[in-house]
Amino acid sequence: MKRLLGLALAGLLLGGGAVQTADLIDGFDAGARAYEQCWACHSLKPDESRVGPSLHGVFGRKAGTLESFNRYSEPMKQSGVVWSEETLAAYITNPRKFIPGTRMTYPGLKDPEVRDALIDYLKRQAR
Ligand code: HEC
Repeated sequence: MKRLLGLALAGLLLGGGAVQTADLIDGFDAGARAYEQCWACHSLKPDESRVGPSLHGVFGRKAGTLESFNRYSEPMKQSGVVWSEETLAAYITNPRKFIPGTRMTYPGLKDPEVRDALIDYLKRQAR
């Protein structure tokens, strides 16, 4: 009986959910950690505006077009950019270089590995 209980517990601990949570707590999810630089300004819940627009559904969105957010800069609205892995990477690397005049006061994320992890995280969490 004791042994069975032990096995059941081990199963629980190794289950996907538990492992994932542990990953987040231990900081192995580099993308989630990197997103800590964004979350104060960007929610991942649909249409929840903070300083910036919600990033829910950002992939495939035309820049500056989320209706629930009404504080886009003119340069963002006029940019003609569509958000993809490539355009997101370019914007996050150096926002003001990619979209001069953007209202996003984020200095840029230069480390390509962290950037990849962040974009990977967004692909999982922003849909
Ligand atoms: C200090 C607040 C702030 C931080 C930090 C910040 N952003 Fe922003 N972000 C904004 C604002 C404000 C806008 C709107 C900019 C504009 O209209 O020029 C924006 C716009 C965006 C957009 C365009 C969205 C759209 O609907 O077109 C993306 C994508 C984005 N941010 C991603 C990120 C990511 C990823 C991070 C973290 C690496 C981040 N931002 C960090 C404030 C912030």
